[in-house]
Amino acid sequence: MQRTLTLTRPDDFHLHLRDGAMLTGIAPESARDFARAIIMPNLVPPVVTGAQAQAYRERIRTALPGADFTPLMTLYLTEASDSADIVAAHRAGIIHAVKLYPAGATTNSDSGVGDFDRVRATFEAMAEAGVPLCVHGEVTDADIDIFDREAVFIDRVLDPIRRAVPGLRVIMEHVTTADAVAYVRGADRGLGATITTHHLIINRNHILAGGIRPHYYCLPVAKRETHRQALLKAATSGDARFFLGTDSAPHADPAKEAACGCAGCFTATNTMPVLAEVFERAGALDRLEAFVAHHGADFYGLPRNAGQLTLERQDAPVRFPEKIETGAGPVTVFDPGFPVHWRVAAG
Ligand code: DOR
Ligand code: ZN
Repeated sequence: MQRTLTLTRPDDFHLHLRDGAMLTGIAPESARDFARAIIMPNLVPPVVTGAQAQAYRERIRTALPGADFTPLMTLYLTEASDSADIVAAHRAGIIHAVKLYPAGATTNSDSGVGDFDRVRATFEAMAEAGVPLCVHGEVTDADIDIFDREAVFIDRVLDPIRRAVPGLRVIMEHVTTADAVAYVRGADRGLGATITTHHLIINRNHILAGGIRPHYYCLPVAKRETHRQALLKAATSGDARFFLGTDSAPHADPAKEAACGCAGCFTATNTMPVLAEVFERAGALDRLEAFVAHHGADFYGLPRNAGQLTLERQDAPVRFPEKIETGAGPVTVFDPGFPVHWRVAAG
């Protein structure tokens, strides 16, 4: 049995770091294991301009004194976004992508896009300048079942955008369905997908069967088991179009354990050990490095990290903190629901 695993230091290509006391409390959880992360812009108010992204990047750096961690910023696309500002921020190295939230799809998405024709010119400018688009791929129509929203989005929104603007590089974020995996596999160019830690582990029964478990609720919501298996197959396949984006999304416990609880699973603390367990169980430990440290960097045109991260296997299950205490309240750490034998070696 393999006891140690040394990897190129991983990157997280989809991360929520929030702001203020929450940022200060949870940012070290990502910076400990990850070299870089694509930082989501869905703050209140959202990060829309290059200047706002630059200021947010400074706040992140201030929250992580001395850490070897590079935040890769994104801008939140609105129908009023300024293409010239997006292109200039990208050219200046301030941002690495633009994030598309369909209006109303998820946490703090009210300023997102309702009419996709109104951002067509922005997509064209981004394609021309090589700015990637990160997509939250769910339709928001009340008459579409929540479990179908990703598949319908592909047909009604994503595929038409990609056909209309063929040069646009797109990352389908946090894919949750076999439909999305098939769509990405079928694309001949310019399309990648992130997969979260939790969607490799939970299906919708974990959220709903035998009692409702708010800490497993996120968006897109976990689907049925066949979809989880398709995600696991994609993540462990070695296909370079699939890479890790944890979507680690902290909310203080009272906001999750509520009559109307927020969406988001917080996986920053234990993602690497949990993924090692998942890949080991799938007989694919040798493919973990590519998934967490090669494919995403390559897709974004970034150099792979020079540093390394070593994981060690122990016989007894590893204990992780159940909660991270922050100035904004306690945040529950994702519980994979099975013993994890891997831990990150002291560096
Ligand atoms: O579960 C989620 N939480 N999905 C998202 O798309 C947003 C995120 C958040 O910001 O809490
Ligand atoms: Zn997210």
